[in-house]
Amino acid sequence: MREGNATAIQRLDYRAPTYWIATVDLTFDLDPAKTLITSKMAVKRNSAQAHGPLVLVGEELTLLRCLIDGEPVSFRQEGNDLVIDAPDRDFELTLRNTCAPEKNTALSGLYTSGGSFFTQCEAEGFRRITYFLDRPDVMAVYTVTLRADAAKYPVLLSNGNLLEQGTLDGGKHFAKWHDPFPKPSYLFAVVAGDLVAREQRITTRSGKDHLLQVYVRRGDLDKTEHAMNSLIASIVWDEKRFNLPLDLERFMVVGVSDFNMGAMENKGLNIFNTSALLCSPATATDADFQRVEAIVAHEYFHNWTGNRVTCRDWFQLSLKEGLTVFRDREFSMDMAGSASARAVQRIQQVRNLRAIQFPEDAGTMAHPVRPDSYVEINNFYTATVYEKGAEVVGLYQTLLGRDGFAKGMALYFERHDGQAVTCDDFAQAMADANPGSPLSSRLDAFKRWYSQPGTPHVAAQGEYDAEGHTYTLRLSQRNAKGPLPQVIPVRMGLVGPEGQALPLQLQGEIAARGTDTVLILEEAAQAFTFVNVMVPPVPSLLRGFSAPVLLEDGLSDPQLLTLLRFDADAFNRWEAGQRLSLKRLLRAARSGQPLQLDNAYVEAMRAVLRHADLDPAFKAEALKLPDAAYIAEQLEVVDPQAIHAAVEAAWDQLAAALRDDWAWAFDAHQVTGGYSPNAVDAGKRALANLALAMLVRGAVAQGDPVWPGRAYQRVKTASNMTERFGALAALVNAHAELAEPALVHFHALFADDALVIDKWFMLQARTPERGGAVFERAKKLLQHPDFTLKNPNRARSLLVQLCNMNPGAFHRSDAAGYVLWAEQVAAIDAINPQLAGRLARAMDRWSTLAEPYRTAAQEALKRLAERSTLSNDVREIVTKALG
Ligand code: ARG
Ligand code: ZN
Repeated sequence: MREGNATAIQRLDYRAPTYWIATVDLTFDLDPAKTLITSKMAVKRNSAQAHGPLVLVGEELTLLRCLIDGEPVSFRQEGNDLVIDAPDRDFELTLRNTCAPEKNTALSGLYTSGGSFFTQCEAEGFRRITYFLDRPDVMAVYTVTLRADAAKYPVLLSNGNLLEQGTLDGGKHFAKWHDPFPKPSYLFAVVAGDLVAREQRITTRSGKDHLLQVYVRRGDLDKTEHAMNSLIASIVWDEKRFNLPLDLERFMVVGVSDFNMGAMENKGLNIFNTSALLCSPATATDADFQRVEAIVAHEYFHNWTGNRVTCRDWFQLSLKEGLTVFRDREFSMDMAGSASARAVQRIQQVRNLRAIQFPEDAGTMAHPVRPDSYVEINNFYTATVYEKGAEVVGLYQTLLGRDGFAKGMALYFERHDGQAVTCDDFAQAMADANPGSPLSSRLDAFKRWYSQPGTPHVAAQGEYDAEGHTYTLRLSQRNAKGPLPQVIPVRMGLVGPEGQALPLQLQGEIAARGTDTVLILEEAAQAFTFVNVMVPPVPSLLRGFSAPVLLEDGLSDPQLLTLLRFDADAFNRWEAGQRLSLKRLLRAARSGQPLQLDNAYVEAMRAVLRHADLDPAFKAEALKLPDAAYIAEQLEVVDPQAIHAAVEAAWDQLAAALRDDWAWAFDAHQVTGGYSPNAVDAGKRALANLALAMLVRGAVAQGDPVWPGRAYQRVKTASNMTERFGALAALVNAHAELAEPALVHFHALFADDALVIDKWFMLQARTPERGGAVFERAKKLLQHPDFTLKNPNRARSLLVQLCNMNPGAFHRSDAAGYVLWAEQVAAIDAINPQLAGRLARAMDRWSTLAEPYRTAAQEALKRLAERSTLSNDVREIVTKALG
């Protein structure tokens, strides 16, 4: 294992390299125990830099040969550096080295999974294949020859186009690939194995023909249809929306079951975690279908935002990730169709941002969207870089409009196609393409979104002047982690007492702006006065969640109820309901008093559930309580058990008070006919599943066997995974007696399907705690024959779910959760540092915990930090946690 002794790398230390690599010709003799790699590179002097040695980097490699223009040359190895006395001119460098793919449990570089070879080179995996200038600003044209046993590895893939293939002596064969596009090493990929492909030929708008392939293990082919359809839809969408065509004759996607992340956008050869690729109605839920569509689109969209224009250095990661998440979100919203379905997507994005990114931005690993330093870059593939980064890209579109944003994109590609650039270049293109826009006049201030960490808090206060018919809205902002005011677009409207959308005329403007507008908050405090406001309005602020901030508008319950009933913005209707819930949960969590839901609240929730016009998908979102992690972010001192108790009490009371309504909802939202993952059917299933969960919960509390029995029946007979898993979850989460036999039945049904067994672990690790039983069960599952730390999906499904996502089970007064966490982080770290780094993040917010949790968490962190063998990944996280 790599020892964690590296020092931090600083963004401002960036220097262009002394040499470039124009072309690289790689030959792989693939063997799981020892793969031989020969690399021939055309090295060019960068005349802008002083002459010096050529310093390549390689990790866990054995160097066999090093020649310049065919002649031996003097070199030395210093740690991972290969320092070559290179001449002050262009030359050809030939290297030969070996690596050991089957020993590569870190899953970075070249590794084996299920008897096949795969690579993962982002961020710094290429150096585990051969010595190289493994940095994204060095872009080369690759030619790759793969040689391997023909029987074991019938499929040999790399980036670009297949030039040649044929047989070799000794039962071997070869394939030669060429990628015409210069690319950074992190986009390099190789796949070799016994795989099969779903194929589709398409002709794009521009009239070009392309071959699309989805490669998977034999037996998984029937689970690739949705991925293929999603790929085709992505290609069509990107051409239509942004004028960005597919630039390769062949586009390949490959699934692998051992993978650290969701997927990887290697040029022309995307590699996917099977969890982000495979789905069928029998084995995947609606949410899985949705996720596959989004990730297929995400990786495809990287072909332009990431590959054609890439990052100069890893501090710019959000340049490609924030932008590509923004693009995949826009795509998913367009695919979802109706305005209501779009709002539901937005709600889910925001729920996720609040539950994961807000805590990150307030915690010990807080960093700006463009970080200033890192020890281990793998620790910075974060919710901040991805999700907050996507929010920041969304701010451009809010300020510039869709057309202005599209113009900015066009200029960005016109200027930077084929280059490795920075977030500043993107911002500049957006501003320059839109002279006279609200962005171009305040670009420097806007860019604080990249440089300041922390979630801005926006406070709003309204004042109605009944005589003057004016309404004054005072907005102010503060950010505990950043001193300068940020540019915050506040989309808003004013809602009258009867629900009317009021015209918005700002003082000094000659006409109303309609009933929905964007105010720009850019000072520490600002006031906006609306005129001709004839009735006292309720402000509906931050519509569509127009900026990633925490809003404190101090609205009263009656005002929130007005918004919940009438707001023209569906997102803010949902938000009003969340705020009503949040107030009650916070009151209980703060006081430690048992939560007692009031009648007005219960009736409002009943009205949502019974509403004649609202879509089922929206109802399901509106009836869900805020996540514990988001609740915790509103508290100065966090008692996870008090939050847990409040949330559980709220669910119990909603289950009991709305019992007949839930029963109606369950029956009224059954989908008949064949399964389709479309938003309408999925919405009905989401609401029916929530209703079933409530009915089982209520019944268990009453000792009534009817609904648990029905759920159990459904686990046995459901015709799709969404309904089957919903029923199983209803039993397990309610701690019903039938949960145990249902789990046994479910496991037996899907014993051979790893992705479904992952769900089985995940559900048990994430069950709402009751009396310590959930923690005990999770601990026992560590010994289950199906459990392994070596497969990231499996390890995550049990440990990340328990430690990072289930605060009620994890935070225990006996500290057993923390002890288990420290043991497992250390155990995983010896196998796979990246994965260990993810689990290590469970303690990010330890310092806000109430006692006895706080001291116990700190002790666990200290014990872990004292270990001598930690990776850079884990060392960076625990060091930052301890401050
Ligand atoms: N670029 C990939 C994506 O879009 C993420 C891969 C990162 N991998 C890593 N090991 N850090 O989402
Ligand atoms: Zn990405």
